[in-house]
Amino acid sequence: MPVQNTLSVILAAGKGTRMRSDLPKPLHQIAGNTLLGHVMQVAISAGHQQLAVVVGPEMDNVREDSLKHSQDTQSYVQTQQAGTADALLAARSALTEHSGDVFVLFADTPLLRSETLNRVSDALEQGANIVVLGFEAEDPTGYGRLLTDAAGELTAIREHNDATEQERQTKLCNSGVMAFRCPDLLALLDQIENNNAKQEYYLTDIVEIARKSSLSSKAISCDEAELLGINDRVQLAGAEHKYQERLREDAMRNGATMIAPETVWLSYDTVIGRDVIIEPNVFMGPKVKIEDNALIRANSHLEGATVGSGSRIGPFARLRPGAQLSSGVHVGNFVEVKNVEMGEGAKANHLAYLGDGSVGEGANIGAGTIFCNYDGFRKHTTTVKKGAFVGSNSALVAPVEIGEGAFVGSGSVVTKNVPADSLMVERAPTTIKEGWAAKFRKLMSRHKR
Ligand code: UD1
Ligand code: MG
Repeated sequence: MPVQNTLSVILAAGKGTRMRSDLPKPLHQIAGNTLLGHVMQVAISAGHQQLAVVVGPEMDNVREDSLKHSQDTQSYVQTQQAGTADALLAARSALTEHSGDVFVLFADTPLLRSETLNRVSDALEQGANIVVLGFEAEDPTGYGRLLTDAAGELTAIREHNDATEQERQTKLCNSGVMAFRCPDLLALLDQIENNNAKQEYYLTDIVEIARKSSLSSKAISCDEAELLGINDRVQLAGAEHKYQERLREDAMRNGATMIAPETVWLSYDTVIGRDVIIEPNVFMGPKVKIEDNALIRANSHLEGATVGSGSRIGPFARLRPGAQLSSGVHVGNFVEVKNVEMGEGAKANHLAYLGDGSVGEGANIGAGTIFCNYDGFRKHTTTVKKGAFVGSNSALVAPVEIGEGAFVGSGSVVTKNVPADSLMVERAPTTIKEGWAAKFRKLMSRHKR
């Protein structure tokens, strides 16, 4: 159910020291999308209309990335990392202008599901002023604990370092995801102080402060796997692994067959139709769409490509951005296709480079054909029209056009347009000297030592 008038503030100002990287943590990727992008996508899917991102100083690249996922995203800079409440207050002007629900999300939990955020919204709808998403941690060390009273109401969140031994027995931990439907959220946030072990302004303190104003808090829980936080590259790889499993399962449940699913790598936005078969060791970068009944054979690499229904790709094929294959197309081993439209039933079965151009319906591109698209300065277009036949080992020097139904003889270097239904062949005349080889061998044998 889409949520009306919700603002999501994504906290991304953390230094991410343990990543040991020049790249801010939110810009590291899993499944072809940044960690920030994943979290933003979850908020968008949950129906949150407004997004704000809190970044650290010198994180212009994070701000730029946020705009790619939603161009209205507001970003705010937290100048010093003084805690999660301070981070949320960096977005003070967004909070002042906003009258609906407010969510706080962390930029490093990409496995969160939008359905879970909708459950949080439902809890607000049912009357809680603050809803905190929790989970039963296998090892709760380091997490804030969710403390509840006999009636099940959330009474406080205690950070690990500030908790008593008894409070530490609580297994229910704070995920960091919090939602607010408070009459004056800013007034509550302004009451938060930093008298704690880390001397930080903890957003989690808001639960006790709200309680003093008779505002209620509720904890709801979800699976720990959804809340896997990323702090280092080992956890990044772990999250990638889990996310890939999820993508593959979704694809298989939607009717795709994977012979060895654990060897297939998909992107966050891969679209796979029904009765598609994917053989082992296939990689799909962002923006790939595979239509029904297509066969992607082993060891193929695809990115930014559309594969039409019933097409056959690979083994060992490479489809690069702008490869637009309509139905029944064959692209075979060691064929690279970049920025080329291929019409229905067109074929390039072996060892070819097709870059910048088009191949018409039913046209056949022979083995070893090269579209010579680059003159060292600019890229040019090659057009092969419907039903044309390009013989093996031909070089089509762009810009050039092969007319409908035309033939290009094997081994030609095509520098001029070829009219429809004609034959073009560019080749030195064949010379045959009968008996020459035998004579040559005899001559040379006299010189043998
Ligand atoms: C936080 C929670 C803890 C919870 C845990 C879950 C608080 C006080 N504690 O602790 O209850 O169990 O997450 O992982 O909220 N950030 C900023 N600016 C800051 C500090 C943090 O933007 O000044 C951002 C970070 O980039 C990160 C998020 O807030 O995305 C969480 O910060 P982190 O330092 O990881 O909090 P924890 O100590 O893990
Ligand atoms: Mg953390």
